[in-house]
Formats: sequence, structure tokens, C-alpha cells
Amino acid sequence: MIDETTGALPVEGVPAARVLDEIRGLRAADRPTHGGRLFAYVYDPGVAGLDELAQAAHAGSAHVNGLDPTAFPSLLAMENALVGAAARLLGGGPGTSAPDVVGSVTSGGTESLILAVKAARDARPDLAEPRIVVPVSGHAAFAKAAHYLRVALDPVPVDPVTLRPAVADVAAALRPETVLVVASAPSYAHGVIDPVAEIAAVAAAAGVRCHVDACFGGWTLPWLRRLGAPVPPFDFAVPGVTSISVDLHKYAYAPKGVSVLLHRDAGLRAPQFFAYADWPGYTMVNPVIASTRSGGPIAAAYATLRHLGEDGYLRLAAVTRDAVAGLADAVRAVDGLRLLAEPESTVVCFTADDPELDLFVLVDELTARGWHTQPQLAYGGLPASVHLTVTAAVAPRVAEFGPALAEAAAAARTAGPVVLPPELLALAGSLTPEALTPDLIAGLAAGLGLGAGPAPDRMAAVNTLLQAAPVRLRERLLVEFVGLLQRPTW
Ligand SMILES: Cc1ncc(COP(=O)(O)O)c(C=O)c1O
Repeated sequence: MIDETTGALPVEGVPAARVLDEIRGLRAADRPTHGGRLFAYVYDPGVAGLDELAQAAHAGSAHVNGLDPTAFPSLLAMENALVGAAARLLGGGPGTSAPDVVGSVTSGGTESLILAVKAARDARPDLAEPRIVVPVSGHAAFAKAAHYLRVALDPVPVDPVTLRPAVADVAAALRPETVLVVASAPSYAHGVIDPVAEIAAVAAAAGVRCHVDACFGGWTLPWLRRLGAPVPPFDFAVPGVTSISVDLHKYAYAPKGVSVLLHRDAGLRAPQFFAYADWPGYTMVNPVIASTRSGGPIAAAYATLRHLGEDGYLRLAAVTRDAVAGLADAVRAVDGLRLLAEPESTVVCFTADDPELDLFVLVDELTARGWHTQPQLAYGGLPASVHLTVTAAVAPRVAEFGPALAEAAAAARTAGPVVLPPELLALAGSLTPEALTPDLIAGLAAGLGLGAGPAPDRMAAVNTLLQAAPVRLRERLLVEFVGLLQRPTW
């Protein structure tokens, strides 16, 4: 039976104003995308009028199809302009040591990374079992790329203090089948910049491509450097860097659905493309994974870049840098909390040294006070941590964050660490993914308050359970829990 009040396909259409009202009602349950209190998922510059501009540009091109650039030259023009801007910002273009940089606009960081791996893989059709070398701090999208493309992943550990891979370990991980070496600028989890120049040199010496994942930092590090920050070389100025990804829907502050993948030259990009003429339909050539693509995100990104301009981004970077410093000070001021890394980009990441101060409880206490931070589970010798992605809109909130953090920490101490039943912890530590039965999953989910509907307000117990589980079991539990959420409504 279709629910006539909420179903997506009612028998009789609903007036436009009411539909929009209904969506606004649904949106009320979401975390706040604007206002500087959400430290993940969203990138808010806090610039008046920018949303309206991006929305208008998006709407004007939403029905344009990127499938065929000859049919919609507007889209091609805007894509080429975005690629040119990204290349110029990242050490490429006329007058640089990388004058022949080319690129493509993709739907996001993950697609850019998958395509970087595909290009590297398909450049070596002679290899039956291609491999990529990725520091464990590299984004999970590389593992996804490896999985989708059947490329083996050779992870390189990171130093528990610097949170960077040792160049010698990267070199040692190279094999004759390696098609790509990865460096992050910076890593998402901790916001630290890998030794790109050294890693690229090792890759070049072996004749292997080197991708710099600047999805997160590619649109901040260049401005921070211009403002005087000691940003090490990470872009096309570094010999041996063959491709770079930068997400415009992150720090270029464009609405979601747009990233740029750059290659040092067209020859390196060529194996990224897919063309097919062996069917009776239209001849198909796709530079990226999607075939039909909306022009909306591309037009919105173009409008955003043109409106903000270099001076706008520089101003926003200065504001963000100061916000990062203020948040880091707030962390330093709380007994028992410790910055996991000194901020060198736009991430603040901290851990707790005091067993009485449970980070996952702290995250819940912050949520209860309207501050949304991102917990990160302990992994491979690294402690659990809290991640803050800092954007310009956070700046006016910094002064409030310090007292809120202190108060949340005090409340977390009072509440004490999460204590799960010992038998549950033992189970989490010993279960294999294969041993999970539907009944067991349903029981676990019910016990943790997970199931249909929004996640519970307090996630500390869920995070504690996940943390107690080995990595493969964590993955399986996440799949099962999200599978419970993704159920059709009738
Ligand atoms: C360094 C880095 N690479 C890749 C990605 C993946 O980007 P997306 O979520 O747009 O697919 C992210 C996302 O946070 C990131 O920080």
C-alpha cells in the first residue's frame, strides 16, 4: 500500500509548494549544512549570496547532458575552464614545468581516484596482476578503486608520530607489477601532507606513475602557501608527479558533484577514456565513469570559482587558517586531550590520553550541544581520534567552541567510558564475518538502537563495538547496518 502522505509516487500529483514544504520538513532532521557547527561532510564558506548564485547556475544547466560535448558546447567550455583553473593552481599550464597538463571533470574525489587507478592500470596491459602502492593514510577510495578494478593494493604503514609513510617503506613496497604510487596532500584523517617529492622521486626512478590525492587540500594548500604557510612542494612542480586530483565540491566551495582529475600530459590521460562503437546505438566515448552527466554541478562550480576569484579564495583561506589555530588552541586547553598532529592544513585531529575521557562519549556530548564532529576508530597502532574539517564558516564559531569542548569533556568524564557487556565485546573480538547470521545482526542492531529510521543520537556504544571488532568484521557490520537503513518505503 502506497503511503499517500509521503510516498514518492502518489496517485494524484501534489502541488509544487506543498512538495517543497515536505522536503523542507524532511531536511529539518539533517545536520546543519551551514553555520559552522558541522565539521565533516560539508564545506561552507559563509559567503552571502553564493548559494543563490550556485543554485541559479545549477538550475540553468541541470538538464544539459555531458554525454556529448559536441551537443552541449557550454558544458565543454565550462569543464575546460575548470580544468585550466585547477591546473594553473596546481603548478601546471603555460610557462610552468608542466605546460601540457590536461584533465577531466568528475563527480567527486572517489571517481577521480578510481579513474587515476584505471588510467595507470590500463597503461600497462602487459601486466596480468597490476598493483598499487598506497600509504594506509591514503583515502579509502583507493581501496575501492582496487576492488572495483581488480588491482592489488600494497598498503604502506604510517609512522604513529608523524602519521606519514617512510619513503623507504614506499620504495620497498614497489614491485615489477606496480602501476601507481600514491601520496596525499593532505590525508583526510589527520590532515598531514605526505613527503610528495620523495615519493614521486622513488616512483619516477622505477618508471611508475605517481598520483597526488589533493582532493581535500588541492584548493587550500596553494592559498595557504601564498599566505606564508610552509607548504612543501606537492603539485606538478614536483618531477615525477603524473596526476593530481582536487575536489571542487570541497574547498572550492562548489555544490556537491564536482572534482577535477589532472594528468601531466594527454598520453598519461588516454587510458582513462572508454570508447565503444561495437553496438548498434550511438558511438560512445566517456572520459569519466558516468555517461549521462548533469551539467548542473559543473555550471555551479564554474559560477562559484568566477564569483569568488583568487582574492576570494585567499581571503577564505586566511579566515580558515585562523579558525584552525583557534580550534587547535581549544583542544590544547582541555586536560586529557591531545592534538594527534600539529595542524598543517585545514584539519584539526585530536585524541584522548586519559582513559576516563572516552572520545566517543565526548563526540556524543558535543553533538548534544549542537557541534557535529567525526569520530575515527583506533586503527593499526593509531589511537581513536576526532576529526574536524575546518571551513571558513567555522571562524565566527571558534570562540564558542572552546567552552563547548571543555563542557563536553567534563560531561564525558562524568558519564564515564562506554561499558559494553563483556560477552558482547568478546563476541566482537572473535567473530568472523562469515559467522554473522541475520538473527545475530538483527539482535546486535536492536541492542544498539540501529534499524529503520535515523541513527540514534548517541553513537558511542556503536563506535565502541565497531572498534572492538577486527577490520573485516567492522566492514561487514557496517554493510549490514546500512543495509537495514536502505529499505524501500511503500
Ligand atoms: C583526500 C581525499 N581523497 C578522496 C576523497 C573522496 O572524495 P569524495 O567523498 O568526493 O568521493 C576525500 C573525501 O573526503 C578526501 O578527503
